[in-house]
Amino acid sequence: MKIAVIQGPNLNMLGVREQNIYGPMKLEDIHAQMKNVAEQNGFEVEFFQSNLEGEIVDRIQECMGDADGIIINPAAYTHTSIAIRDALSAVKLPTLEVHISNIHAREEFRQKSLIAPVCAGQIVGLGAFSYHLAMMGMMQILSEVKAMKEQQAAAQAAQGMAQAQ
Ligand code: DQA
Repeated sequence: MKIAVIQGPNLNMLGVREQNIYGPMKLEDIHAQMKNVAEQNGFEVEFFQSNLEGEIVDRIQECMGDADGIIINPAAYTHTSIAIRDALSAVKLPTLEVHISNIHAREEFRQKSLIAPVCAGQIVGLGAFSYHLAMMGMMQILSEVKAMKEQQAAAQAAQGMAQAQ
């Protein structure tokens, strides 16, 4: 199963930008850790970062039929983008929203997420570790989805056999 990790504007500057808020880790190091955990658990993972809203919308649309779940930090677009919310809503994949900082404890304009209502969950405020928790959470969600599908398939097969007798 494949997990798409989507990163919004200015996250390419992690490790450089406002270290007091976002910490010292670079995006590529966060991604390397996530990839390790995913692959150790038999999941494929693909990373994408863009500073452009439309490119993020395109990437979310591409996930349809290609990925099984999405982990997204929409960064500043969290607070403004109806387009990103609509794209997530359209593809209907299990999605987790991640923030490095605790957006609920920051400026008022950051406390509202337009994305949260179309996500399965939101992980905030644990620094780079938020991404690790999101990866653990997404693997759990996808394992449950897989188990449910297998159960449904087994029930259908059993029904088919009962009808044939
Ligand atoms: C952020 C929080 C946003 O408000 C901000 O615009 C970011 C990063 C976070 O991860 O804490 O760029 O998404």
